[in-house]
Amino acid sequence: MMTAKEIRQAFLDFFAARGHDIVPSAPIVVKNDPTLMFNNAGMNQFKDYFLGNKTPKNPRIADTQKCMRVSGKHNDLEDVGVDTYHHTMFEMLGNWSISDYFKEEAIKWSWELLTDVYHLPKDRLYATVFEGDAKEGLPPAEVALREWRKLMPENHIIYGNKKDNFWEMGDSGPCGPCSEIHIDLRPDDERQAIPGEQLVNRDHPQVIEIWNNVFIQFNRKADGSLESLPAKHVDTGMGFERLVRAVQGKSSNYDTDVFMPIIERIAQITGVPYGKSEPTDIAIRVLADHIRAIVFTINDGQLPSNNGAGYVVRRILRRAVRYAFSTLQYKQPILFQLVPTVAAQFTDIFPEVQANQSFLQRVILEEENSFLRTLESGLRKVAQIEEQLKAQNSTHIDGNTAFELYDTYGFPADLTRLIAREKGLTIDETEFAVAMAAQKERARAAAKIETGDWHALNDQQSEFVGYDTLEAYTTVVKYREVAQKNKKQYQIVLAQTPFYGESGGQVGDTGTLQFGNQTIKVVDTKKKTTLSYW
Ligand code: GLY
Repeated sequence: MMTAKEIRQAFLDFFAARGHDIVPSAPIVVKNDPTLMFNNAGMNQFKDYFLGNKTPKNPRIADTQKCMRVSGKHNDLEDVGVDTYHHTMFEMLGNWSISDYFKEEAIKWSWELLTDVYHLPKDRLYATVFEGDAKEGLPPAEVALREWRKLMPENHIIYGNKKDNFWEMGDSGPCGPCSEIHIDLRPDDERQAIPGEQLVNRDHPQVIEIWNNVFIQFNRKADGSLESLPAKHVDTGMGFERLVRAVQGKSSNYDTDVFMPIIERIAQITGVPYGKSEPTDIAIRVLADHIRAIVFTINDGQLPSNNGAGYVVRRILRRAVRYAFSTLQYKQPILFQLVPTVAAQFTDIFPEVQANQSFLQRVILEEENSFLRTLESGLRKVAQIEEQLKAQNSTHIDGNTAFELYDTYGFPADLTRLIAREKGLTIDETEFAVAMAAQKERARAAAKIETGDWHALNDQQSEFVGYDTLEAYTTVVKYREVAQKNKKQYQIVLAQTPFYGESGGQVGDTGTLQFGNQTIKVVDTKKKTTLSYW
């Protein structure tokens, strides 16, 4: 059986042999795009190639990209741990053609890799193609259909609508029709009873998408309209953890050698074996998944904090601690103990995790300790509430008090519910939901960022001159408006710039731009404050 490491390497080797440059993953944390906090697809780092703003050295590229889908348009968080095939952090294997090969080669190669290299059974594979969308003026896929017909029987090809077969990076940006490959991993008797084509894209845990071939042809503009791009591109994304599961013939991503070492370590630390009960299995999966997201985001420069991407990291970490605390009954810091196991998984592809191991452990331990203190103070508050209710001869916690526990004490709502149930108390859920909705609305209004389209004034590349000079006489290449909390700012790209853009954990430069007599302040706009709640 191929190991996860061999499966990843086989993908990279396959595309290297077909003329692709193998490039490093971009950091999982996005620092220079106000529309995105985390990389949510392999194509993010190539956005400017698709839009025609930049040209790659080689039009054929492949890599494995560290991704997160926990906020914004692609958000899988609620499913993570509960099911066996969604993750916070995952690797996306991808191959790209920037205005080079198109649908024929992309489809042919994806089939060859899956069936000849990974030996996935052909009769278990299905392809979806775009059925078109009259409202958007988009025709049904013809070429993709023709190509799939050469490779699989008609009943394995399924038409899909815009939701499933038109891929968009976010509310704006490069997009296009796509053709997904799904695999039916059910046992034979189940496959005979219900044909796989009836379960594709139906959230069946054993009939899952593994690879998406996107044919980028449009740019979704900020006003919602579609603009045709000057060239056509291929953008593919294959979920590595799902692929490993399919190749290793497992019924859950967590049963593969990507996750089992972490799961075994959790079982060893907590004394709770995996496979004992559904609630403890969910908790173990949450921990096994979340520790990877926590390690990679912190390693790529995003410390847990109270806003923006840091807040997302904090919430993921707290979700994991909460499951350990309340379901596995492990009331001490646990996540920092898992770091060496995670690091050992990636020595060949992301060795920097092992190099930073002790720093990662320190940050995570501190964060865990602080949240465990919060949990303790929340528990003290619950005891006070209990006393008050007893004095009033009541067993009913009003919604505002429950919300105060959540909001002021950082006490998660389901933990409040669990403890209330244990103590024979009830919560006014309607009042709680109203208070929660009002707070979400406040956060949404505060965080809303509206990003306009770029206005290009010329097609020059931007050159960083800040190593030699702190001042430059130059021209504007392009600009766009970014509005947040009704405050308008502009992002301006200069032909030569002494301003170091925030990246690699460093703060961006600030200063001034002088246009004739007018002076404009340059500030750090990267403090993205979109909040996510769960
Ligand atoms: N960009 C292709 C995908 O994420 O599915």
